Amino acid sequence: DERSYIMIKPDGVQRGLVGEIISRFEKRGFQLRALKIINVERSLAETHYSDLSSKPFFKDLVDYIISGPVVCMVWEGLNVVKIGRDMIGATKPEASAPGTIRGDFAIQVGRNVIHGSDTVENGQKEIALWFPEGIVEWTPVAKPWIYE
Ligand code: GTP
Ligand code: MG
Repeated sequence: DERSYIMIKPDGVQRGLVGEIISRFEKRGFQLRALKIINVERSLAETHYSDLSSKPFFKDLVDYIISGPVVCMVWEGLNVVKIGRDMIGATKPEASAPGTIRGDFAIQVGRNVIHGSDTVENGQKEIALWFPEGIVEWTPVAKPWIYE
């Protein structure tokens, strides 16, 4: 099944949005496969966002990600990468629709609460990067009530 790497950024943790965000993914029907809270090494943040290393905001972005603990998660389900991105909303909160996580809880792009993988391939890379210890296997009983 498809998996996405979803991470609550330090502002989301400090603002007490962890439960709200997990609840939205659970209620949508996705399966939680991995969960931890960690302080991020600068080198890990730089690797995760290496595609943006030439951007003028790169240092601010890395400083932001390492400024406090983050909650790292793997969510699984049909089209979870695309649906997860839709639930998260546009990168810039001024463009994120109400009802999305950023559209409900963020104002500025540099404090936009949450990360979600943008492609299935990047999701696989990010899960390997953030969960080198591997993830848990479990069989949810609700699946026939979520999938036909
Ligand atoms: P992620 O899920 O975090 O990867 O966000 P995204 O895929 O919606 O956007 P993108 O990968 O292009 O940018 C990664 C992150 O960099 C964003 O979520 C922001 O936190 C930050 N970022 C992007 N653009 C800007 C910007 O113009 N200024 C600042 N300060 N931060 C930015
Ligand atoms: Mg991105």
